[in-house]
Amino acid sequence: MQLTDTEKAMRDGLNGPAVARSMDLLIRYGEALGAERLVETRNVAGAYNASTPSVRSLAEEGFDRVFSELNLDSDEVVDVPRMAVPTCQLITGIDLDNHELQGADPALVEMQRAGEKYLGKRGVNMMCTCTPYQVGNVPVQGEHCAWMESSAVIYCNSVLGARTNVEGKESTGAAGLTGRIPYWGLHRRENRLANRLIRVETEVNDMADWGVLGYFTGFEVEENKPAFEGLTHLPDLMKLKHFGAAAASSGGVEMYHMPGITPEAPTMDAAFGGTARPEAIVFGEAEKRRTWARLQNATDRKLDFVMLGCPHNSIEQMSLVAELLEGRKIHPDTALWVHTPRAIRQIADRSGYTDIIRAAGGEVMSDTCPSISRRMPAGVRVIATDSAKQAHYLPAIGKVQGWFGSVQQCVDSAVAGEWLGVVR
Ligand code: F3S
Repeated sequence: MQLTDTEKAMRDGLNGPAVARSMDLLIRYGEALGAERLVETRNVAGAYNASTPSVRSLAEEGFDRVFSELNLDSDEVVDVPRMAVPTCQLITGIDLDNHELQGADPALVEMQRAGEKYLGKRGVNMMCTCTPYQVGNVPVQGEHCAWMESSAVIYCNSVLGARTNVEGKESTGAAGLTGRIPYWGLHRRENRLANRLIRVETEVNDMADWGVLGYFTGFEVEENKPAFEGLTHLPDLMKLKHFGAAAASSGGVEMYHMPGITPEAPTMDAAFGGTARPEAIVFGEAEKRRTWARLQNATDRKLDFVMLGCPHNSIEQMSLVAELLEGRKIHPDTALWVHTPRAIRQIADRSGYTDIIRAAGGEVMSDTCPSISRRMPAGVRVIATDSAKQAHYLPAIGKVQGWFGSVQQCVDSAVAGEWLGVVR
């Protein structure tokens, strides 16, 4: 690993033991990956504030102990200084305003609250969402980042044209303290080109269609980088966030190109870097129907829980849910939770959307989601969601049956107390 003089000084302890530990970790990590050098980053998004029983026993020895072990992979406890570069907290396990609904242990709630204070003092911006790009962390094209969370990574690379691999909590801890990350994978231009082609031969327009296309894509291309032809409708932020989250769930897609839409693909030729295009994988009406069916993991129509907001909802989605629920009542045997970043919840509150959703019997949740927190309303057996990602994970994680459909189908079903959408 070639290091600059500044990096050597960090490694040798000039900036203190936490930075030295970080640099040691990054060097070992980079060498294992075959990286020849590090690259500077000023944009880190990681997971620092954990709230599990095992972390609680570490926290009894102080939060430096937690950060040292979880974020620096260090048995030795080091004093953690302020982050060297802008760093934000991704999604957490507990909604600090709705923890009673989640049934979270009060001791873990207090630990998460104290963890926020500790991290805030060290310059970690407590965004607490899987969509930091919705609440102020918007890197520019070409910017090197160190992000975790697969749905955020695919958005960062593909929609924003910034550059990140899927990092871990250790590498993002070290990156925050040093402003460095190994230069490999998607940091390198030559690794960002398309190597699969998907030809869309059916309409992909509403949110659910985009989720289905993403889910299909992940299964077909796995960890490759697809380019798309035949798209007839321009997607917006909501659709691309939904699409990317789905593609990163059924496969390990971290980057895609939509010529004329995503920034590194002004043309199909540019997406492939002038190389020959592979044979196209077709997404037509039959593939769409099959993928819809694949997302239905339930047989029982009686619905206990509807989960909206994966990835966390935009303000436009919050407005839509409120509009769909206005003047209606959710069935008394069905719970509805709508998830959004805490910053967007403030806007939803001030816009009256939260009141409308709550008046209908729903709840607006932040900071977490059921897949990450592993918390749902008690006794849930059958869920419905408008998210292909959540439909993929929650039945396995929560041992529940799961339906997938549009937001309208989910809301109508919550009101009816039974699934009204497509069955198979
Ligand atoms: Fe975000 Fe949880 Fe979905 S982390 S992308 S809401 S599974």
